Amino acid sequence: LEIIHIETPGSRSEVRIGEEWRRVAHLIPERGIAIITDENVFAIYGNNFPSSPVFVLPPGERSKQLSTIEDLAGKMLESGIDRSGFVLGIGGGVVCDIAGFLASVYMRGIRCGYVSTTLLSQVDASTGGKNGVDLGGVKNVIGTIRQPEFVICDPEMLLTLPAEEYLSGLAEMIKTAIIGDSDLFRMLEDHHGEVLRRDTGLLEMLVSRSVRFKAKVVIEDENEKGLRRILNFGHTFGHAVETALSVRHGFAIASGMALAAEFSVEKGLCGIDDATRINRLLQLYGYDKIPDVSPSRIEELVRHDKKKSGDDIWFVFITGIGQAVFRKVPVNEVIDFYKRFSVKPQG
Ligand SMILES: NC(=O)c1ccc[n+]([C@@H]2O[C@H](COP(=O)([O-])OP(=O)(O)OC[C@H]3O[C@@H](n4cnc5c(N)ncnc54)[C@H](O)[C@@H]3O)[C@@H](O)[C@H]2O)c1
Repeated sequence: LEIIHIETPGSRSEVRIGEEWRRVAHLIPERGIAIITDENVFAIYGNNFPSSPVFVLPPGERSKQLSTIEDLAGKMLESGIDRSGFVLGIGGGVVCDIAGFLASVYMRGIRCGYVSTTLLSQVDASTGGKNGVDLGGVKNVIGTIRQPEFVICDPEMLLTLPAEEYLSGLAEMIKTAIIGDSDLFRMLEDHHGEVLRRDTGLLEMLVSRSVRFKAKVVIEDENEKGLRRILNFGHTFGHAVETALSVRHGFAIASGMALAAEFSVEKGLCGIDDATRINRLLQLYGYDKIPDVSPSRIEELVRHDKKKSGDDIWFVFITGIGQAVFRKVPVNEVIDFYKRFSVKPQG
């Protein structure tokens, strides 16, 4: 068990990696608990949940709506949960985002913690305190930043994840390696067989490294005024691809990262060898390099990106493996790059 502490102004959170998830019973109060989960997680793990009221949501992004929060808050009131209550999210990024937001607004804020059950939520979604729900198809429009008291990341829970979900999370781990941890990058290169077989000992170590990096960034810049922006590496093109092709987040981010690496080379910020290594790693894990999306569709979607300010956009480049920088660049430049890239023969 490794415990990573995240202290930010006004809050203290710990990510417990390698802890057996059932031990969550020792971390929560004796009464006043609402457990939030989804149908898939409940079907596999529900029998061993702590004995408290459980609210089971339909799985997937469609549950991330304000109406879900209203509904859950109503049920919590009915269950007699007051300001001394506690929200425990047991699930992936969707459940944790909902549980965190609910806890931050119910009775003006009550305590919360997560058992994080997907690779994506273990390496990304449940560290950093961002939460929220979508609005009219636009992601995470309404939410807060609030650290959970604890997050349990039990690698054994990753063994029941469908392959597509596992690979989707792995892309975020690769992102961490590219922007901040060249040793992690090498481990992902050298041990790809074990990673794909989900060796739990190795996963515990890889998840720890990923969380450690994200925690460092969040401690320095909780509200994304600066450094935290680097976590968006691959996301400008990635989000556009995700919307255009309706693919799982990680697969879209993987192509976004390949594009961002290429753009970094074109800008003279990164050597071609590093970009080639990145492409090779992405291919090793089976991600497609070229998104089949027309430049005009990419243009439309990038112009609506939330990270845009006026005619510029914060774009994350790499200067080598394990090093990222963010720059404000004209949106037109980003789109022109994609136009050039999409007509280039791909090797
Ligand atoms: N708050 C943040 O900082 C942050 C960061 C990244 C992503 N996110 C959010 O996370 C969400 C995506 O998270 P996700 O990829 O974990 O999706 P998810 O929560 O929908 O889980 C994916 C699928 O796996 C199932 N599942 C979960 N755990 C399982 C397990 N152990 N075994 C078997 N099946 C299991 C779920 O029921 C679901 O069908 C998005 O809404 C995204 O916006 C938030």
